[in-house]
Amino acid sequence: MKVTVIGTGYVGLVTGACMAEWGHDVMCLDLDAAKIARLQRGEVPIYEPGLRELIMRNQPAGRLRFTTDVAASVEHGDIQFIAVGTPPDEDGSADLRHVLEAARQIACHMDSFKLVVNKSTVPVGTAQRVSTLLEEELGRRAVRCGFAVVSNPEFLKEGSAVADFLQPDRVIIGCGSGTADRRAREWMTQLYAPLERTSSQLLWMETRSAELTKYAANAMLATRISLMNEYANLAEALGADIEEVRRGLGSDPRIGAHFLKAGIGYGGSCFPKDVRALIRMSEQAHVSHHVLDAVEAVNSRQKFKLVEKLQKRFGASLSGRTVAIWGLAFKPETDDMREAPSRCIVGELLRLGAIVRVFDPVAMPAARRAFAQDLAAYPRRLANIHWASSALDAARGSDALLLVTEWVEFSHIDPVQLAKTLSMPLVLDGRNAWEPSLLASAGIEHRGIGRIPAGETLRTRPMPLRRFS
Ligand code: UDX
Repeated sequence: MKVTVIGTGYVGLVTGACMAEWGHDVMCLDLDAAKIARLQRGEVPIYEPGLRELIMRNQPAGRLRFTTDVAASVEHGDIQFIAVGTPPDEDGSADLRHVLEAARQIACHMDSFKLVVNKSTVPVGTAQRVSTLLEEELGRRAVRCGFAVVSNPEFLKEGSAVADFLQPDRVIIGCGSGTADRRAREWMTQLYAPLERTSSQLLWMETRSAELTKYAANAMLATRISLMNEYANLAEALGADIEEVRRGLGSDPRIGAHFLKAGIGYGGSCFPKDVRALIRMSEQAHVSHHVLDAVEAVNSRQKFKLVEKLQKRFGASLSGRTVAIWGLAFKPETDDMREAPSRCIVGELLRLGAIVRVFDPVAMPAARRAFAQDLAAYPRRLANIHWASSALDAARGSDALLLVTEWVEFSHIDPVQLAKTLSMPLVLDGRNAWEPSLLASAGIEHRGIGRIPAGETLRTRPMPLRRFS
């Protein structure tokens, strides 16, 4: 099928490359000429496992093209995916400017039936708005060609985006029931036909339900994380181990094992923004949102958990302390720094006077840009960030190591060597990536989030529990 994808961000690029892999004839449009030029040269602007290979295979085969030419891209695709960003407005609601502009461009150039597919995360009612806009623009041009608008939210995760797209658990498609919508159904079924092999199911529903499903899914996952983080704080205070609790909870099929990892809070381009946007939607609909408010509040606080632990250990000021940070991206296998907990942690450590030695396997360039932006008002603090060349280099001479992003390579570090490299053998594990006993065996004091330190049990830890000796 002939497909156009508007927007070459995470979702657009992965959608285009994967559709081409399925054999569709794909053209990706972006107005950023420099980005398109890089893509045309085979350079992939984001770090995403497997994506480069897909592009390298499908671009030379002629199934995947990149352009800045709006008219050509509208002419190309019978199916027009809108996959542009919906950044938060000042009040937290999703900014639809790019979505509506993409729709307007389609309407300005189309002269045959088009199926417009909304892949961007958009507030409930957007498919309707896009429909109305198309109708108005076509009316203005006095062009009589039909169209349908469907909602097809994307659930891929950064770091496993290609696999998630090619083998999704389900594909949500919101569609109306008019004559044009029948054609939309046929085309969407053909488009996703390759999924028949993977037993992924297409779930058809009303457009508004599809739009809400996307926000509801992200907010549900964010809620699980915040609840687990609250349980972890409780476990810590009561002398229980959150990893054991997680095993117990996750083995109940009604609860399920995924998204129960306690840590230092969720980040990224979706959860924080989508929870806020859902709160805003609730406000506008005059519906209460107590749970969502709590989810957000717990998450904001959790990001400072490791700094609080450091302060309990070293005192309120961290002046004169050197702190190593392992991992800067908001999660492993990505260089994405959007809403990464590392930004709050590093900012706070610097504010408290510490020197920080940071390392991330892929996110160092993105982190430099992010910290420069965050610290624009405090340029002197930037000088207190040391950009290490390796994980051990970051640890060198540090009074404590904070594990912020759980890259697999960190778990392979030799604890004995780590103990020798740190000036004080203290590890604060913000992702519960290590078994406490493993580091303890090398003489390292390991403190996780909601975990019982090695060698301590309730019997050895009289209530009230001391946090650090
Ligand atoms: C998320 C959704 O999972 C995806 O379906 C949607 O399309 C986009 O938003 P993503 O932001 O790529 O994907 O990352 P995800 O793997 O979901 O992790 C989000 C955040 O939650 C990360 O900061 C991660 O560290 C944190 N997290 C995740 C936890 O703290 N605990 C968990 O158990 C899982």
